[in-house]
Amino acid sequence: MPNKVKGSTILVTGGAGFIGSYVIEQLLPLQPKKIIIIDNFIRGTKENMKSFFNNPVIEFNQGDMRDTALLEKCIAGTDYVFHMAALRINACAANPRDGFDVMLKSTFEVAELCVKHKVKKVIYSSSASVYGLAQHFPTPETDNPYNNQTFYGAAKMWGEQLFRSYKFMYGLDYVALRYFNAYGPRMDTDGKYTEVMIKWLDCIRDGRNPLIYGDGSTTMDFVYVKDIANANIAALQADVTDEAFNIGNCEETSLKQLLGVLLKVNDSTLEPEFREENSINPVSRRLADVSKAEKLLDFKPSVSLEQGMRELTAWYFEKIKIATN
Ligand SMILES: NC(=O)c1ccc[n+]([C@@H]2O[C@H](COP(=O)([O-])OP(=O)(O)OC[C@H]3O[C@@H](n4cnc5c(N)ncnc54)[C@H](O)[C@@H]3O)[C@@H](O)[C@H]2O)c1
Repeated sequence: MPNKVKGSTILVTGGAGFIGSYVIEQLLPLQPKKIIIIDNFIRGTKENMKSFFNNPVIEFNQGDMRDTALLEKCIAGTDYVFHMAALRINACAANPRDGFDVMLKSTFEVAELCVKHKVKKVIYSSSASVYGLAQHFPTPETDNPYNNQTFYGAAKMWGEQLFRSYKFMYGLDYVALRYFNAYGPRMDTDGKYTEVMIKWLDCIRDGRNPLIYGDGSTTMDFVYVKDIANANIAALQADVTDEAFNIGNCEETSLKQLLGVLLKVNDSTLEPEFREENSINPVSRRLADVSKAEKLLDFKPSVSLEQGMRELTAWYFEKIKIATN
């Protein structure tokens, strides 16, 4: 397959963020002409970009996607766009108007400007949130989105449909990737489910028994961030358009099992303590069917939960050490 990245100019919106920074690290060896980043640092950091920030191929724009003139400056002349900038699910719930401006309006401007400037393809970061509590496990892409109850999931589905309509109306090529539960070094340490891993790591470090609210039976499909970045590169390189793909690890892991893995990789003999659940999670299960991505993108998750948790632990303990020194 020809290397489409070589000699290309690529925009990564949200490139200072968790997943975006890994996508950039995987693009660089493929010899792009230029990588343009736009990020307002609402969540992303310069620290996430430290391996490439001074690379001459990188053009970093600290700014807001809602600034349409800046967005146009970033899109004009680009061949490919990874559209990753977004608010987190909790931030959308806390302030739907901001959610609207960032997730819907700015995504609309991205689509408009990509048509105007003849961008060859957009890789859109969608989410397993589009399913809400899915109908089938493992969940194929054909499951419907009507069980979703979140603004965030609604916005992601709208984004997918927007790009679909722009393909139909204007021929704009795109691929949407529905990530399941992303984790790994640089992840958000106070996100909706990620904070539980971090709280448990704090307990392990301090020798306190980790707490589980409820019976720990809620399941997720934890997918390592480098596997997600691989899927993004594959989505750009493959001759595939107008498709949405699940990107997961294909392992259904309960919170109780997750804690077991964290304790194991840390050689800890601590026991979980169970507490009454204080909120009801309407999404009690997640498990991806990635056979479509396997077939059309040659995607295969390669990092086991145990290996990923080792890397997460090493990163987090190093981060705390630096912060406390
Ligand atoms: N992390 C996950 O588990 C997960 C799961 C499913 C989908 N996704 C999606 O993947 C993408 C990347 O997620 P992530 O985990 O790297 O999140 P992240 O928050 O680390 O990265 C998003 C980046 O976008 C930037 N940003 C937000 N609003 C902006 C704005 N108005 N202008 C400019 N920059 C802005 C943030 O500063 C951040 O650096 C997002 O679209 C997210 O919705 C993530």
